[in-house]
Amino acid sequence: MGPQRLLRFLLPAAAFLALLFLSSLRLPEVQLSACVRGGRPCSWFGDRGETPPPRGDGKPSRLSRTSDSPLLLPRPGTPPPFRAPRCPGKGFQVSHLLEAFRACVNPNGEILLREYLLGWKELIKLMDSLGAAFGLIARETQMKMAIMQGHRLGPHGPHYRSLQAMVAFELQHGLVAFRELPPGQPLSGCRTLLRLHRALKWLELFLDKLGHSQPDADPSQMCAEAYQEALAPYHSWWVRQAAQLAFLALPSRQELYRIVCTDEEQEARAVLGATVSTIGRVYNITQQVYTAHSLLELP
Ligand SMILES: *[C@@H]1O[C@H](CO)[C@@H](O)[C@H](O)[C@H]1NC(C)=O
Repeated sequence: MGPQRLLRFLLPAAAFLALLFLSSLRLPEVQLSACVRGGRPCSWFGDRGETPPPRGDGKPSRLSRTSDSPLLLPRPGTPPPFRAPRCPGKGFQVSHLLEAFRACVNPNGEILLREYLLGWKELIKLMDSLGAAFGLIARETQMKMAIMQGHRLGPHGPHYRSLQAMVAFELQHGLVAFRELPPGQPLSGCRTLLRLHRALKWLELFLDKLGHSQPDADPSQMCAEAYQEALAPYHSWWVRQAAQLAFLALPSRQELYRIVCTDEEQEARAVLGATVSTIGRVYNITQQVYTAHSLLELP
């Protein structure tokens, strides 16, 4: 084996080992068991009375309300929002994801950052249930979420209530770093959220492909294609290699459907379809705001 070929083999292998190491630092606690209640798979059409267990602090989750939240009341003439299955005892709840990303767009079309981050919190749980394969991206995403949370709770918090307010504030005060950041300057919210925005596209594309796939389709390939399209152009060579290898360890399509809490092909497609259009709406509005201010190419 010549040194060239050896190198071609060794570099991806080293990247993979680095990824395994990184993801082992934070092993997700997941069960890929099917959603079962009383010995039968969970059904979720018309399944109203169910409330999720309270959070650790004893307060019921604010987002656990669906029908009584004013933001979610269907307007006359519009169909009621799609009701996702509840999966008791599991970390990731697709219903929480839908509720957060629905509540994140207010009637004025503003993206509310608190709800946006709550939606991302569920997406992190989704990535965790996809296995160690997503460790690297989940970790990077969590760092971005922490930065955004810091802005929201910081001294300029009121300017970080919505995406639109944040963009206006940071542009007005020269806080958006259009080139490399000078050391010591706080990380710009616009720049940080752009990372989340790109990752959101990747998940949207992946879930879309999954929802339209044939039963014998390979999730690894769908995930890799979505990654190529949405995220790879922004990642370094190392991260790309590690990510591509990691996708090979993705659970089977059947297990992925169980993660969204159904065993049934038709139901799974409906859940995935609702998720994709809910996320897609938030993505599209964000994309418009970034485009309008020429912020899409931030370093
Ligand atoms: C988002 O925008 C794309 C491209 O303009 C469009 O095809 C898609 O239907 C939009 N999605 C939603 C949920 O509005």
